[in-house]
Amino acid sequence: MNTPTPAHCAVIGHPIAHSLSPQIHHAFAHSLGLNVHYERILSEIPDFERTVQDFFARGGHGLNVTVPFKERAFALAAHSSPRARLAGAVNTLWMAEGQLHGCNTDGEGLVYDLKRLHADPKGQRILIIGAGGATRGVLIPLLEAGAQTLKIINRTPARATQIAEELSTQQPQFAPRLAVGSLQDTQGQWDIVINATSASLGTAGLQHGAIDYAPNALAYDMVYGAQPTPFMQHAQAQGAQRVADGLGMLVEQAASSFAIWFGQRPGTTTVRQQLRAQL
Ligand code: ATR
Repeated sequence: MNTPTPAHCAVIGHPIAHSLSPQIHHAFAHSLGLNVHYERILSEIPDFERTVQDFFARGGHGLNVTVPFKERAFALAAHSSPRARLAGAVNTLWMAEGQLHGCNTDGEGLVYDLKRLHADPKGQRILIIGAGGATRGVLIPLLEAGAQTLKIINRTPARATQIAEELSTQQPQFAPRLAVGSLQDTQGQWDIVINATSASLGTAGLQHGAIDYAPNALAYDMVYGAQPTPFMQHAQAQGAQRVADGLGMLVEQAASSFAIWFGQRPGTTTVRQQLRAQL
């Protein structure tokens, strides 16, 4: 696809100025020798649908969607994947045969990052904290990757129950591996513990029950930062041998979007190292 006319991609959101997506996707394109122009689109709140339609009408190739439009992107897509349906949210849009398609690549991005960290979900006991959009986006890929048990605990347990019921209705084969509970329901030993809440840890924030980390367990925070997050620090103090933040997931979900649009999954090591150095 090394044509003189670049493939036009973008990320749309509000706000959007700080999105790292252009840097990530330009690095991917460069590494594969593809001619891609990737920009940020700031959409006014009421204009989202029209802006998306205009983008593709002008020949746009692929669109990432971020806050606060992921749910509206899901509603707008004529076709969406089961994982996007459970999430009720889409972060990747493209046109195929004249119709708008949507996918949510967050979960695939998480699974790729876990594998990179030598924490392949296959056969693992996974505890996920939180029952909001972040959790919804990753459940199906974690189960498809072979998680042995996946327990969702949440401050409002009813939200965890709701997600498990929806998923069990959509994909009954996953029901036997799902469990739910309150933030105190941490009984058992865990191989992978994922923080998918928007709360930072502390007296005013997230307070979960004591966690028994299996030998070599990984505590993973979907949030990332220049320093280990409070969740990571707490996990280490509780005995987690390995901790990671969500920077890798950010890069991997972008790689999954890129693969949908261009049919090739780029390598992620260089760009992840660049972003880490910039934090
Ligand atoms: P997102 O789309 O980022 O997941 P969300 O749907 O608002 O955002 O979900 C935020 C998650 O963080 C929820 O699981 C929320 O718990 P509730 O469902 O009980 O609201 C969790 N969360 C936010 N603040 C929290 C806090 N102080 N302690 C524990 N959990 C918290």
